[in-house]
Amino acid sequence: MITASAPGKIILFGEHAVVFGRPALAVPVTQVQATVTLAPLSEGSGRVKKRRANAQSASWQKKVLIEAPDIGLASNLFALSSGDPPHPLAFAATVLLSALEVDWLPPMTMRVHSTIPVAAGLGSGAAVSVAMIRALLAFLDRHLPDRRISALAYEVERLHHGTPSGIDNSVITFARPVYFVKDHIIEPFHVGRPFTIVIADTGISAPTKESVADVRRLWQSDAARWDKVFDKIGEIAQKARQIVENQDPSLMGPLMFENHALLQSLTVSNSALDRLVHAARRAGALGAKLSGGGRGGNMIALVRKENAPAVAEALNSAGAQRTIITQVE
Ligand code: PMV
Repeated sequence: MITASAPGKIILFGEHAVVFGRPALAVPVTQVQATVTLAPLSEGSGRVKKRRANAQSASWQKKVLIEAPDIGLASNLFALSSGDPPHPLAFAATVLLSALEVDWLPPMTMRVHSTIPVAAGLGSGAAVSVAMIRALLAFLDRHLPDRRISALAYEVERLHHGTPSGIDNSVITFARPVYFVKDHIIEPFHVGRPFTIVIADTGISAPTKESVADVRRLWQSDAARWDKVFDKIGEIAQKARQIVENQDPSLMGPLMFENHALLQSLTVSNSALDRLVHAARRAGALGAKLSGGGRGGNMIALVRKENAPAVAEALNSAGAQRTIITQVE
């Protein structure tokens, strides 16, 4: 039996502007995890044969079962991978198998479990993909560098999210803070001094694809104006990286409020997010902003460690459906 896990994530700075080539920072959230467990169904099935792809290829897939009890899913790889679009769980498996040129697996169960809230901007989809890819690599006794694993998970992200920047799969694969510039730089970086973040979920599920499309429309309407906003967000992300690496993390607080205001101007905040940001500030948070696609999903607040429970409570009172306190180190 093989098990592999991957953490959730939050975007600290730079969402939306990252789609337009500006830098962003994201960090893993290790309190929540996606886990994939592979269990062979018959004796001696740990051995994997390599065969040429042929007309029988679907029949072995029927003996590979994918179970995700959290979402009430139990089906075989074939049924899930032949949908249009294919199911992301099956696609993560088949994308890896084809990259490895493996076209057969012994009968097995792939059991998927995740404590990462779904559709909340915490990267649940990318985490499940990365855990699936890692579990299969271990099962097949093969190795791929993190960059390849991240690129494969990106293929799965693309299936459902159109043209994601790739930040989710990067931070989740590296499981470290990442400085990211789309198509150019993925740099895991060092946290000089640990800091505490409270994550609060508005409970509103809002497709990132739509907010990304709306921001693009806005930009098309007046590129010069919105490019300046993206530039400011990018500069904030740059500054924040220096702070995280070398300075007192509380200096990030004002940058978070500033980044939130810029996201408001991009129309991706909403009243629930604004209310939570306001509540966090009143409860003594050093900084707060929406995180991810916006219009719902999560916001984050930078807090002094001892103040985290009080800020979480204030966020719950202001309507948060769930709060998570996480230490970034
Ligand atoms: O909603 P999330 O957490 O997956 O974040 C989306 C971040 C965006 O910058 C809005 C889109 C992207 O692909 O980077």
